[in-house]
Amino acid sequence: MQHLILGAGSAIAQALIKKGLEQGDFIVAVSRQADNRKELSDSNSLRWLQCDYTESSIDQICVVLRESGMAFDRITIFNGILHNEGMSPEKRLENASIDHLNAVMRINAFVPLLWVKALKPLLKGVRKRCIVTALSARVGSIGDNERGGWYAYRASKAALNMLMKTASLEYHREAKLVQFLLFHPGTTDTPLSKPFQKNINPEKLFTPDFVASQLMSIQDGLSPELPITFLDWQGKQVEW
Ligand SMILES: NC(=O)c1ccc[n+]([C@@H]2O[C@H](COP(=O)([O-])OP(=O)(O)OC[C@H]3O[C@@H](n4cnc5c(N)ncnc54)[C@H](OP(=O)(O)O)[C@@H]3O)[C@@H](O)[C@H]2O)c1
Repeated sequence: MQHLILGAGSAIAQALIKKGLEQGDFIVAVSRQADNRKELSDSNSLRWLQCDYTESSIDQICVVLRESGMAFDRITIFNGILHNEGMSPEKRLENASIDHLNAVMRINAFVPLLWVKALKPLLKGVRKRCIVTALSARVGSIGDNERGGWYAYRASKAALNMLMKTASLEYHREAKLVQFLLFHPGTTDTPLSKPFQKNINPEKLFTPDFVASQLMSIQDGLSPELPITFLDWQGKQVEW
């Protein structure tokens, strides 16, 4: 199996890369971070590409991928932030700011769309099924929003879902073998969730390893009929 992993520095992505290599996959990993494959494996089955996620950098990576003639069975997009040094999720409207909204929207929703746009020429020619997965979140569900808060993150994941749904319909017309999955991993012990783990029941805080296994088996078992589906770590449908 050939797997393209975008945002490969993610803790969940790292676990997925390890598992993929163990089962004999060939993996292309793309990240802002420098090549750290030594920590993962010395295997020749991993190619590491660096990208700063500007539109031109994403386009350049896609040119390299096209020239390599690779045919991916899986493409998984991990890019997503909830907080950084200067920014934490808004508890109240008073905390909302244009800079925060712009930054989170760009990384969580627009960067994944730029990937799906730039990959289209490569994917239009595929002769085998390819599953494109984007890491979403249940808090991006409009129907499930009963607590409020986290304006930018919620809105960015809802926007991600809409952008992927719209792209999946276009792909369905032009590249029938490409199918989309929006995946909610559950609360997973990674740098993204670290500051928000206090009130989580330890049984509900998953390891990246567990989530990577769940994702792999959900991708393997995905029925090919639907252009897109929004599933959680148990394979259960999440309300849009
Ligand atoms: N952990 C959870 O509880 C949880 C719950 C629901 C959904 N998710 C989603 O799961 C995905 C992976 O998150 P994680 O938990 O593994 O967190 P993580 O280890 O903090 O990973 C962060 C991800 O975001 C990318 N990223 C960070 N800053 C960026 C920037 N300035 N521009 C573009 N990309 C940037 C990183 O890519 P690089 O490789 O380039 O660093 C990496 O893919 C995210 O989309 C997140 O929203 C996580």
